[in-house]
Amino acid sequence: MENLMPTGMRTLCRVTDIPENGAKGFPGADGAFTGLVAVRQGDNVYVYENACPHIGTPLDWTPDRFLSVDGRHLICATHGAEFTIATGACISGPCRGDRLTPVDVVIRDGSIHVLGDG
Ligand code: FES
Repeated sequence: MENLMPTGMRTLCRVTDIPENGAKGFPGADGAFTGLVAVRQGDNVYVYENACPHIGTPLDWTPDRFLSVDGRHLICATHGAEFTIATGACISGPCRGDRLTPVDVVIRDGSIHVLGDG
């Protein structure tokens, strides 16, 4: 079968590798300082750079722990900022009004791919 995936894309994982209404972290690509976080809600997957807009630290305090207890928001472990999952907008905390950096995603054949070095 012909591989139609554009060059310059990085495969993160299968959609089903992320729990429903869960999140998963990924290290930066070779040479990249910042990793990524992917959140799955049903068939939708949202990917952001794993860096808080406040001072740039990773959001998770332990691997793959990114979400609020109710699973409705991404949370920064450093100072508790909350972000909407679908937009990355900070809705409370020291960077309120700022937002996470989104990463373009392609889902093909059940796998999540991101553009660039991600
Ligand atoms: S570093 Fe995220 S809220 Fe301060």
